[in-house]
Amino acid sequence: MAVTRTLTIIKPDGVAQNNIGDVLRTFEENKFKIVAMKMLRLTKQQAEGFYAVHRGKPFFESLTTFMSSGRIVVMVLEGEDAINRLRAVMGATNPANAAEGTLRKRFATSIEHNIIHGSDAPDTAAFEIGYFFSEMEIVS
Ligand code: CMP
Repeated sequence: MAVTRTLTIIKPDGVAQNNIGDVLRTFEENKFKIVAMKMLRLTKQQAEGFYAVHRGKPFFESLTTFMSSGRIVVMVLEGEDAINRLRAVMGATNPANAAEGTLRKRFATSIEHNIIHGSDAPDTAAFEIGYFFSEMEIVS
């Protein structure tokens, strides 16, 4: 299986709940290499740009308001089959459907406040990594 990169965000709820350490520990335990990381607070417009594929969906307004409501931690992870493995570690979007032991099962409180984002495919990973990081900021 090829080594690939994915973009992950600890969302405002995860930062506010002090889950940064839990998430980083989980990444390290699961053999993800953190090759870029920064803390940000998005503007509403920056959140809308990041989630542009969801524009027009009923949850878009609420999602982008939430994502610009507080500090977030953005990272690039590298590893074998990183996109799919990260999705498995995160668990289902809706924590009510997330498997036992996943990050969302452990810490998320609703489908919107689900503590973490991960890219869902290679093309979205490329867009999302480029949204936050230049190649110079990725250290592998
Ligand atoms: P995320 O992986 O960041 O991608 C889009 C986000 O929209 C998703 O996680 C959820 O937090 C949020 N969201 C809110 N409502 C819904 C919904 N009904 N269906 C899917 N995603 C939703």
